[in-house]
Amino acid sequence: MFFELQPKRAIINDFNTQLILTYRVIKDTVEELIRVLKHYKNDEESFYEIRNLDRNTIRFNTLTPVEKAARLIFLNKTCFNGLYRVNSQGHFNVPYGRYKNPAICEEIVLRHISDYLNTNEINMLNEDFENALINAGEKSFVYLDPPYHSPDKTNFTGYQADGFGEEEQERLRNVIIKMTNRGAKCLLSNADTEYIRELYDHDYFDIISVQAKRAINSDSAGRGNVNEVLIKNWREFP
Ligand SMILES: C[S@@+](CC[C@H](N)C(=O)[O-])C[C@H]1O[C@@H](n2cnc3c(N)ncnc32)[C@H](O)[C@@H]1O
Repeated sequence: MFFELQPKRAIINDFNTQLILTYRVIKDTVEELIRVLKHYKNDEESFYEIRNLDRNTIRFNTLTPVEKAARLIFLNKTCFNGLYRVNSQGHFNVPYGRYKNPAICEEIVLRHISDYLNTNEINMLNEDFENALINAGEKSFVYLDPPYHSPDKTNFTGYQADGFGEEEQERLRNVIIKMTNRGAKCLLSNADTEYIRELYDHDYFDIISVQAKRAINSDSAGRGNVNEVLIKNWREFP
């Protein structure tokens, strides 16, 4: 959504420290990042060596921001299905993807993103959504892309060691209600489940069914076209 719209002024936020650090590195030191990415090899031994750097916290903390960002991009491109998953100790645990020619270093794209981030007013936050959204008011358009609701635990939602359960979905809904009362336009994507439909069963919201193509699902039956919902809190006038 962000790259599609390429707004001139925006705030992006994610709780994942490595993800936001990667955006900051792309903005500030893209040439160094490209240099490091070019050194990476797509083989199983290199993959596990780089993946397992987070098993030793002291060693991990000695990595530079560029090395951490390069690691995240490398793992995203070479791991199974481009999944991001950590275990309860916060260790990245997706296996090697065995892809023939993954685009580990897309230098043109990285330079374009860097240029875009440097020539527009883009603020990058690494906070819980409730803090990040505290000032969203009538001049704001807010797109929310939370971990999807998963009633049966078959869908992959483990982006953080502590997960994002129904309490978190409800807390997010309450934050969206507050933003609606302040006049912000909000658009949320989520899984099409009974729980989500009930949670947003309110005059404020329109629920739109969409079919989305997904490669990320721990259960292969859930890959391909899946039912999702877009929930919006404003009405167009005819
Ligand atoms: C469906 S992913 C969306 C990722 C991102 N929009 C993208 O397209 O790459 C859900 C994201 O929610 C983030 N998240 C989980 N809990 C959060 C919280 N309490 N506050 C903010 N972000 C959170 C996860 O780190 C994860 O990156």
